[in-house]
Amino acid sequence: MNSHTAISVNNVGVSFRSRDGDTNTVLQGVDFDVEHGQFVSIVGQSSSGKTTLLKTISGLQPATAGEVLIKGAPIAAGVTEIGMVFQSPVLLPWRNNLANVLLPLEFRGTRDANAKAKAKQLLAMVGLEGKAKRYSYELSGGMQQRVAICRALVSNPELLLMDEPFGALDAMTRDSMNFEIQRIWRQAGCSVLFVTHSISEAVWLGDRVVVVGGRPGHIVADITIDLPRPRDKEHRYSTEFAGYVSEVESHIGVTAGIS
Ligand SMILES: Nc1ncnc2c1ncn2[C@@H]1O[C@H](COP(=O)(O)OP(=O)(O)O)[C@@H](O)[C@H]1O
Ligand SMILES: [Mg+2]
Repeated sequence: MNSHTAISVNNVGVSFRSRDGDTNTVLQGVDFDVEHGQFVSIVGQSSSGKTTLLKTISGLQPATAGEVLIKGAPIAAGVTEIGMVFQSPVLLPWRNNLANVLLPLEFRGTRDANAKAKAKQLLAMVGLEGKAKRYSYELSGGMQQRVAICRALVSNPELLLMDEPFGALDAMTRDSMNFEIQRIWRQAGCSVLFVTHSISEAVWLGDRVVVVGGRPGHIVADITIDLPRPRDKEHRYSTEFAGYVSEVESHIGVTAGIS
């Protein structure tokens, strides 16, 4: 860990105990750092423990071994340094978009005089200027997910955790969200951990692609994606891009079929 480290995941293990007393170790010896401002993609087979890893980093799920440090300090439940976006936007239908974005501040009792301006500024940043008073049923899936991203960013988190955030969107909306998220991330200035099933999405967005695999789950590869930024469409057709995709695929393949 150095002074630029946003989070350190130190030798983390997570085990669940079933009702009949069996122990299921889902993660073991997970060890990596994320630098401040870095975008790290996470891929791996279904049930490899990706969601468990994000929940552990957020403090929602306690680690049974090791520790997670945010800027060198242990995480506490409900930390404001972390924002989370899930596959489903889970907006409250009786609250308008602005009120949905403000929700975490109200929960934590940290809504102040500047909160509304901040929420409006975030909505404008994601291209929803003028939609503050709209309700989620008036928005497309992509727009709803943008509101969820604003809600996660409203407390200026050091780290944004995203668990397959575009998984429920149609292919074209997903594509445009891939462009948007790069811009949003650069403007927000936070670090991102981004779980996805799409290897090309992982490579295209990430400074690194971390592959989770094996049983118990651990990091089987951590690949630095040395493509220029900002990334545009051309990069997806480059030989370098294809090389990274194939490298990531080979690591997922290695861990496939073990049960
Ligand atoms: N709260 C829990 N209690 C028991 N087992 C769990 C719990 N959460 C996840 N698991 C198990 O952990 C494994 C990994 O799950 P998950 O982290 O959701 O994987 P992924 O997100 O990679 O698909 C699965 O086998 C799942 O059944
Ligand atoms: Mg998952």
